[in-house]
Amino acid sequence: MKTSVYIAISFDGFIARKNGELDWLPGADGEPVPDSEGEDFGYNAFIQSIDTLIMGRNTFETVMSFGQWPYKKPVIVLSSTLDKLPDDLPATVALKCCSPEELSDELNTSGAQHLYIDGGKTIQKFLEAGLIDELIISQVPVLIGSGIPLFGPLNKDIKLNHLETTSFKNGFVQNKYKVIG
Ligand SMILES: NC(=O)c1ccc[n+]([C@@H]2O[C@H](COP(=O)([O-])OP(=O)(O)OC[C@H]3O[C@@H](n4cnc5c(N)ncnc54)[C@H](OP(=O)(O)O)[C@@H]3O)[C@@H](O)[C@H]2O)c1
Repeated sequence: MKTSVYIAISFDGFIARKNGELDWLPGADGEPVPDSEGEDFGYNAFIQSIDTLIMGRNTFETVMSFGQWPYKKPVIVLSSTLDKLPDDLPATVALKCCSPEELSDELNTSGAQHLYIDGGKTIQKFLEAGLIDELIISQVPVLIGSGIPLFGPLNKDIKLNHLETTSFKNGFVQNKYKVIG
């Protein structure tokens, strides 16, 4: 089973403003929209390749603010504070409270092939647990000064192997790394 991160960051390393706003991120309304030239930055191919999206509660709350549930694939929301999910969500969305290791074991046993991990703190916990295989990070050419960081403190270094860099006409630079550990 492979585990990937696919995320956009500001050039100074943030995934959202401190209040969670994504106004600096073009097309951030639930699903990256192809730009005027039809470019989707590999998003649709990536999303087709995954079985399950795992997101933290804060990311879930942002997605809920979009108004319409944007994902057709199964989604697991991680939270230790939510008792239940809103009733109007599709049956493909589940709430869980467990460690990255427990969740990964459970999904691996159930036959999952490819997981998408989303949300800053959630990604950090999976990275710390050694459970991220691939990072696909699209750098947006803007400095926002402060915000919610993608990465945080670590108990030990995590080495990466650079696989690919793609630059797009709109200025996005997408870096793909394999996590060595
Ligand atoms: N730029 C982008 O492409 C992008 C992508 C995704 C998200 N975002 C933005 O990033 C922000 C959210 O990131 P974030 O770092 O604040 O948080 P996050 O990872 O989305 O959510 C953190 C929360 O997830 C829950 N959680 C995580 N792991 C858990 C576990 N193993 N067991 C139980 N609960 C667990 C906890 O919720 P409880 O407190 O309920 O326990 C924790 O407080 C949002 O503003 C979102 O819009 C941006």
